[in-house]
Amino acid sequence: MRLKKLLLINFKNILQSEIYLTDGINCFVGDNGAGKTNILDAVHYLSMSKSAFTMTDGQSVSHGEEFFVTEGSYVDDQQRVELVNCSFSKRGGKIIKRNGKEYDRIADHVGNFPVVMVSPRDTDLITDAAEERRRYLNSFISQLDKGYLQSMMRYNAVLAERNVFLKRSSDETMLQIYDMQLDEHGTHVYQERKRIVECMQPLVNEYYSFLSEDREQVEMTYRSELDDMPLKDILLRSRERDLVNQFTTSGVHRDDLIFKIGGYPLKKYGSQGQQKSFLIALKLAQYRLLAEQTGEKPILLLDDLFDKLDMRRVERLLGIVSGDDFGQICITDCNKVRLENTLKNAGKEYQLFTVEGGEVKR
Ligand SMILES: Nc1ncnc2c1ncn2[C@@H]1O[C@H](COP(=O)(O)OP(=O)(O)O)[C@@H](O)[C@H]1O
Ligand SMILES: [Mg+2]
Repeated sequence: MRLKKLLLINFKNILQSEIYLTDGINCFVGDNGAGKTNILDAVHYLSMSKSAFTMTDGQSVSHGEEFFVTEGSYVDDQQRVELVNCSFSKRGGKIIKRNGKEYDRIADHVGNFPVVMVSPRDTDLITDAAEERRRYLNSFISQLDKGYLQSMMRYNAVLAERNVFLKRSSDETMLQIYDMQLDEHGTHVYQERKRIVECMQPLVNEYYSFLSEDREQVEMTYRSELDDMPLKDILLRSRERDLVNQFTTSGVHRDDLIFKIGGYPLKKYGSQGQQKSFLIALKLAQYRLLAEQTGEKPILLLDDLFDKLDMRRVERLLGIVSGDDFGQICITDCNKVRLENTLKNAGKEYQLFTVEGGEVKR
């Protein structure tokens, strides 16, 4: 998948901009606060129908405006031309169109234009609670498997209903119905998460050792109560506890991803450099799986390329992503000279854009 042209109107601090991209590496350079990350986020919006950072769509509308528009002209890996338009207005909500036709459900769009973002915020995956890691898995697997997103949405809807129900009743028949539904959708979610994490593990290790030149092994494992018994048995066993607590205490909404280095928790024992290399290895593994399973090379977004990485690691990273396994790339950095010097050695064609106060120039 390659983005040929990006059109932005009232998107955060970018009031109006038309950007013609190259199939190789697109570099956005400028000072802090210029709008570089916002451009990458707009590309993320077009693929995922939401921001990688802000919680609500309204936060992406330029201050004082009523709506934003992002539009991308793409060419996919079979050379088909595709137009995606994602607009949001405070009155009318969000609309996503593919080649002029609005989707029935926004969820149908996710996965058609695969994207992977690497950003300084990824450290949240290591430092934050399990919810952040589940959110990551959900968003990633949604791009791979539309059935997954459906199952996840249904699971969450039943879970919310069951939790409301537990606050006012202990009726066995109703609880049985809820549990049957949770079992159906939750088991699918579990199986997909397990399958994907197992596929990723060797790739994460491979990229990690190449990037970091580190002899330590890294591990990424998926932990779920469903490893030990089927969800319907878990729910039955915890029913009494659920009734006392008045919410559902077990299920795939409690799963987690475990990251380790040399056999120890990455959060406690990994240095900042090791953690950063791990996160990049994770995202590159995600990229490879998406490319293999969707048949479409995702667009790779590298926000703040030099964040917590020394020159040697940046060079190794650029070496990897300049290879045949990877496609179009967008990079941001605040230091033009440093970035250009590094790119000259990478051997992939690149184009520089300057970003200043929400304006983008070539
Ligand atoms: N909804 C919005 N309307 C106007 N400006 C915004 C909005 N959201 C963020 N900004 C501005 O965008 C700028 C940050 O842009 P960003 O892309 O993060 O910069 P950087 O070039 O450092 O990556 C800040 O000045 C911030 O105030
Ligand atoms: Mg930024």
